[in-house]
Amino acid sequence: TEYFRKDYEPLTNIVTKINMEFNIQDGKTIVTSEMKIEANPNGPGAGDLVLDGDETCVKLVSLEVDGKALSEGDDYTLSPGKLVIKKSALKDDGSGTLTSVVEIVPEENTQLSGLYKSGPMYCTQCEAMGFRRITYYPDRPDNMAVFEHIKIEADKDSYPVLLSNGNFVEKGDVEGSEGRHYAVWSDPFPKPSYLFCVVAGDLGSIKDSYTTSSGKDVHLEIFSEKENVNKLDYAMESLKRSMKWDEDKFGLEYDLGIYNIVAVNDFNMGAMENKGLNVFNTAYVLADPSTATDTDYERVEGVIGHEYFHNWTGNRVTCRDWFQLTLKEGLTVFRDQEFSGDMGSNAVKRIEDVQSLRARQFAEDAGPMSHPIRPESYISMDNFYTATVYSKGAEIIRMYNTMLTEEGFRKGMDLYFERHDGTGVTCDDFRAAMADANGIDLDQFGLWYSTPGTPTVTYDSEFDAEKGVFKLTLTQKSNSDTPLHIPISTGLIDKVTGEEVVATKVLELKEETQTFEFDGLKNDVIPSILRGFSAPVKLVPASGEMDEEALAFLAARDTDGFNRWEAGQRLFTSLVFQELDGAMTETTTDYVFEAFKRTLADTNMDSSIKAYALTLPSESTLAEELSGSAVDPVAIHKSRGAVRKAIARKFHSELQAAYESLSKEMEGKDFKVDAEAVGQRRLRNTILGYLTVIKETAEEQKAAAELAVNHYETATGMTDKMAALNALASMDGEGATSRDEIMQRFYEEANGDALVLNKWFSVQALADLPDVLDRVKALTKHPDFTMSNPNRCRSLISAFAMNANAFHAEDGEGYKFIAESVAAVDKLNPQISSRMGTSLIQWRKYGEERAALMKGELQKLSEQKLSDDLFEVVNRGLK
Ligand code: ARG
Ligand code: ZN
Repeated sequence: TEYFRKDYEPLTNIVTKINMEFNIQDGKTIVTSEMKIEANPNGPGAGDLVLDGDETCVKLVSLEVDGKALSEGDDYTLSPGKLVIKKSALKDDGSGTLTSVVEIVPEENTQLSGLYKSGPMYCTQCEAMGFRRITYYPDRPDNMAVFEHIKIEADKDSYPVLLSNGNFVEKGDVEGSEGRHYAVWSDPFPKPSYLFCVVAGDLGSIKDSYTTSSGKDVHLEIFSEKENVNKLDYAMESLKRSMKWDEDKFGLEYDLGIYNIVAVNDFNMGAMENKGLNVFNTAYVLADPSTATDTDYERVEGVIGHEYFHNWTGNRVTCRDWFQLTLKEGLTVFRDQEFSGDMGSNAVKRIEDVQSLRARQFAEDAGPMSHPIRPESYISMDNFYTATVYSKGAEIIRMYNTMLTEEGFRKGMDLYFERHDGTGVTCDDFRAAMADANGIDLDQFGLWYSTPGTPTVTYDSEFDAEKGVFKLTLTQKSNSDTPLHIPISTGLIDKVTGEEVVATKVLELKEETQTFEFDGLKNDVIPSILRGFSAPVKLVPASGEMDEEALAFLAARDTDGFNRWEAGQRLFTSLVFQELDGAMTETTTDYVFEAFKRTLADTNMDSSIKAYALTLPSESTLAEELSGSAVDPVAIHKSRGAVRKAIARKFHSELQAAYESLSKEMEGKDFKVDAEAVGQRRLRNTILGYLTVIKETAEEQKAAAELAVNHYETATGMTDKMAALNALASMDGEGATSRDEIMQRFYEEANGDALVLNKWFSVQALADLPDVLDRVKALTKHPDFTMSNPNRCRSLISAFAMNANAFHAEDGEGYKFIAESVAAVDKLNPQISSRMGTSLIQWRKYGEERAALMKGELQKLSEQKLSDDLFEVVNRGLK
């Protein structure tokens, strides 16, 4: 079934209060629910009570209303996905108390949606529609209820820790039982079912506390399997920083006395913001120097922040329906990005976020899964937890912030909470709060919510030397019939003096074509357009040709850190594309070499920024830039590699000197994860990448391997270890022995740690070796490999699909392997299989032969029995 946004209708009857009992036994859990039913005060009047339930998971045992048993047919009907209690079974005004008993088998729940078992513990995941896999209920976010009395009963030895949302009420032994105990939790805040959570397990924890700005004490506790408790400190520090940041930045305080987090090994997504009881994928919460890279640390901080910030943007004010998902996700991603930027470096964070937007979201927007940030329809909502809803959604929020300024944005947020606290609302409600609080019109801006695809903005300029006037003409093109409202932050730099003569100004492009004038200029200027990436668009010169001289100028002088980096990236891109077309030109090579040299020698630049400025755009970003013509990913891989090698050869001695001086600087220092240390590692590892890319001759292979092995052996933490392993993984010839030795050593040093083993699988799946597919196939037989753990599955299979050079091999074997893996995973976990399936749907852009092969695999998949999730992706891919 396909669901449409335009078909939204309020419920007739709702549940306003629920008490539940979970009786957890080995192989069977009995769930008893007592629900207070009322006619929906915002609905059409009392009617039938419609409950959602997944009958493949939930077995109905009994139903009563106000103590009277109901009979099927007379009082209720059951059909796939639905249980309807007839109006006649309720009081005339639509009220009543409904008691249901159902049975579920969490041990057999491989979808990891609903109540399931992850290793030794039980846990839940209810967003978006997992609660219906626990019991029959109006499982949609506009049904807000108080979960007043949640009782969990289980074996005391195996499951000493019993948790649910909200406040702890009591616990005790179950009288007359053999070793069973129970706990009761109560959440005073009304919430939709997707925020419900229970956990039962034999868990260790760390505890802390936080005093809110108004003086309320909050108990903080993070739980994990006992062997991982020593890896929870960074998450706890991040949590306290998040709490403080939201108070300082938005005046938002935490609202319960307890904040619990549980780390779970088997989890489909990153984490989940259940009220007062977040559940985290272990990959996004565990961190210690010997197992986590700097990027892992950043991710932990970001996701801890993200889930915490959801408490206001998501939980206190939630979504009316799932089409509004970006209301909470786009906004919360924006908030976590700002938080991470403030904790480290805003400039570095912005570059990272735009890199990922371009590599993932732009690609999604250019393919068959393209959708507006507020989708119009879905078959499986789980398919719409996308880069578009999340990352592009965050860019839309960022545009409000850019246009209204931070102060105006805050006013809008304040009004949003004043109006909507405790309710489920729409994206239009958010936009109205922003508009009303600032007394401006944001109607046209609303088009961003309904327009799929990446808009293009072209620019053209002209300078009138006599009058001292610079004219910048911007033209937009998008999938919207009428023009979008696009903020284009722009500054001007004097061509002669190199000084900025017009500071950043937000140009509001509202028409198809608009000319903006700047007067009082002494000399001609170079415009720096779309500073800070002020809108999620592609910026292209009207002539179609990049002005490389201007780029070189900006790469050296732009005062906007983002655009300085961007100019360098564009020069790199030009050079890679020239190589792709036949050969690098001397002019562009010179520009690139000059920029590279200056950057490498710059002693004032932040090391992370420097590392990013020395790094070529990713293959997926390059592929995305090429849209229009047929993309050959293997050729892109080669051309990008050729440019890297050319740079590495040209600057070999400078790179070596920089590597050595950085090594010296870092020697003997205590291991730290702060901006400075992270930057140093990032820069040195970037340089290592260049130094190990030259391996044509036996001599060079030996030298590269020796350097990487030494880097591995002197590594002070996982970041450096991974950089070395990454370089070694792609070595062949004289480097093969070192590669195999270190690979084995890494495996042994992992000592069974799941997250470290994931890295071991990934690095091999991403290697640049001719036989990588065979290696990956062999790894699927490794005793540590399993399809049923999402992290492990992604670490090998999805990582291989990201290895464009291997995945897109001309014989189509890469496609076949992914299609077969997707089919196998689909039997276990549709959320994971459908995500993996998206790697096959982009066939249109890859030229006839590859397209036919990819399409053929989709065709074969479509002839099998698929989950709804995978069906939707395959079907869109074939259309
Ligand atoms: N709300 C969660 C987060 O962004 C993600 C949950 C995704 N769940 C899913 N079934 N797709 O923090
Ligand atoms: Zn979220």
